[in-house]
Amino acid sequence: MRLGVNIDHVATIRNARGGTHPDPVRAARQAAESGADGITAHLREDRRHITDEDIDRLMAEIELPLNLEMAATEEMLEIALRHKPHAVCLVPEKREERTTEGGLDVAAGHNHIAPFVSRLSDAGCRVSLFIEADPVQIAVAEAMGAAVVELHTGAYSEAALRGDDEAVAGHMELLRAGAREAHRRGLEVHAGHGLTYDTVKPVAAIPELAELNIGHFLIGEAIFRGLREAVTTMRGLIAEARA
Ligand code: PXP
Repeated sequence: MRLGVNIDHVATIRNARGGTHPDPVRAARQAAESGADGITAHLREDRRHITDEDIDRLMAEIELPLNLEMAATEEMLEIALRHKPHAVCLVPEKREERTTEGGLDVAAGHNHIAPFVSRLSDAGCRVSLFIEADPVQIAVAEAMGAAVVELHTGAYSEAALRGDDEAVAGHMELLRAGAREAHRRGLEVHAGHGLTYDTVKPVAAIPELAELNIGHFLIGEAIFRGLREAVTTMRGLIAEARA
């Protein structure tokens, strides 16, 4: 199983003061040295964390594949087509939200989203759709020609934080069934959002999953233990869950 480390919140801390420290590219380098398989960065419309220059530098200076998360807008499409990152993950984006609150509704947004999938795929990017673990969303993702779906683990993570065991079991069942269904349809299956040391293992144990993308918790944990140790520990938990 691959681990993509999302470095957005290194940029959040940098931007709190402006300037260049802490540098998300340095974080990407450390994540790579600590066993990350990819770097994930979300270029938001309002540039609240990652900036255009960060994307330029991640593409130029980091050898690991970049997974560029972005909204399906013409501005972002132009940036992605200029850089042609290894992967592009299309996500819903609302200016007022604190984080990506739910999956992209690819069923309702089909006519808008489908051309983004084909233009990015034609440019050689692996296109991923960040969706809820819902059979209709998965079927539409396949029909659009996406290579990958990333299942949103936010609701599971929140239920786990609340200690709501019944909800945790329900969300885990949806994630397991969603991963099976996406895999059956020939999609590569990823997952992420809100995962921590305490919540990663049941998700990592889903056999059809090929990649997890984890950011906020790792960057927060890095304050206490350093990024290398945070990433290495997460890798170890994922390996235990797979074994
Ligand atoms: N995957 C996707 C598609 C995301 O948008 C995010 C958050 O930017 C993550 C994974 C990582 O979520 P978190 O930062 O909560 O670990």
